[in-house]
Amino acid sequence: MKIALGCDHAAYQLKEQLKAHLQEQGFEIEDFGTFDESSVDYPDYAFFVGKAVIEGKCERGILLCGTGIGIGIAANKIPGIRAALCHDLFSAEASRQHNNANILTMGARVIQPDLAMQIADIWLKTEFEGGRHQRRLDKITNIEDTMAAERAQELAELIKDREQA
Ligand code: RB5
Repeated sequence: MKIALGCDHAAYQLKEQLKAHLQEQGFEIEDFGTFDESSVDYPDYAFFVGKAVIEGKCERGILLCGTGIGIGIAANKIPGIRAALCHDLFSAEASRQHNNANILTMGARVIQPDLAMQIADIWLKTEFEGGRHQRRLDKITNIEDTMAAERAQELAELIKDREQA
């Protein structure tokens, strides 16, 4: 399985540890950075990793920042991304079984590296259960599609108004 990895400066050390840990287990890693502890903006890395996942270049993604919150919020703006913030093993497992999360986010300022690696391990090996959970994911997709259709309609009306002005 190919994993897209990304982080901001706050999680650079954790990203390096996690990368080595996953490579030892045979996972192929595409590292989208950041590559040192200079201050950067987490939405950039959320976008790189989210795009790689949604385009099928990587099967899953792992995103890390100080809390795991900002980078997850940003990733979830990409239609089709289901990024789950997990700081415990139960949530990590459930995020795969129930939510088919395709990105795991964690906060380097929240949990210790050992736990982060255990969370990544269980998240990577757990399968989606489908069934009633798929119906709920379809409703999330419907929200994305409805918002996109409304936006497209607004833009079409804007263009029409400008053409008539
Ligand atoms: C960076 O200082 C910090 O804000 C970021 O890593 C993250 O925690 C944001 O959600």
